[in-house]
Amino acid sequence: MSGRRGGGRSLSWAVKFEKRGLWTRNAVAGTSVYGETRRKFSGREYRRWDAQRSKLAAGMLLTKNDPGILLPEAGTQILYLGAGHGTTVSHLHDHLCGKDNERGGRLVAIDIAPRCLRDLTHLAQSRKGLVPILGDVRKFTTWGALIQRRVGWLFQDVAQAGQVDIFLSACARFLAPEGLALLSLKAASERFSKKDEDEVFAEVGQRIVAAGYHLVEAISLAGFEQQHTLFVARRII
Ligand SMILES: C[S@@+](CC[C@H](N)C(=O)[O-])C[C@H]1O[C@@H](n2cnc3c(N)ncnc32)[C@H](O)[C@@H]1O
Repeated sequence: MSGRRGGGRSLSWAVKFEKRGLWTRNAVAGTSVYGETRRKFSGREYRRWDAQRSKLAAGMLLTKNDPGILLPEAGTQILYLGAGHGTTVSHLHDHLCGKDNERGGRLVAIDIAPRCLRDLTHLAQSRKGLVPILGDVRKFTTWGALIQRRVGWLFQDVAQAGQVDIFLSACARFLAPEGLALLSLKAASERFSKKDEDEVFAEVGQRIVAAGYHLVEAISLAGFEQQHTLFVARRII
């Protein structure tokens, strides 16, 4: 739940919203991950969560709902598909795990690119609870055994053709009932991109609903990421 404490509005124990910007309590005080600014709130160090570089942060700034709803529950297991170099992953880790994984979370982060894995592995050395995996998100058989319990929160940002099929398969296999799944979709990456952007996004929303999910919100990320929408879906059964 959101609340106001010691400067800025708290979206969670580790995430603050202040003057239209987001900040996360740094699990590794004294270090930045991608050159982001650090500052103190009530004597604790926070890192600025740059919405120009994180679609989750952009979605949190643009949602019509309480932005805290988009976050996973701290101390749980989550699955992140398309982790990149760890920008968003690092902020999620601040919230999910905290210093020395004081919250007891587990963040499984998958990416196909060896260069990304190098950065994620480096990050994981100082961020307990972060589990980077080199793998293709389409090939569950190679990494799925590492997810032994279904997750309550899943995020996908792979920017490649077939994003919706990958997302729906991953949700069917790994998302727990009532779990929240977020799909960052780039219209131009879809095969049916001869349609205009609005048609692509409308069709994706319909597919998510037809697959049995409640579409909580489709957040246009215009202003931060062109041609991107963040779909927020809840598993009903
Ligand atoms: C836009 S970047 C992710 C940025 C990241 N989500 C962030 O906010 O910091 C997309 C990532 O998806 C990865 N990717 C694309 N296709 C993939 C696949 N089939 N399996 C795993 N990763 C994939 C790319 O290597 C790339 O790092």
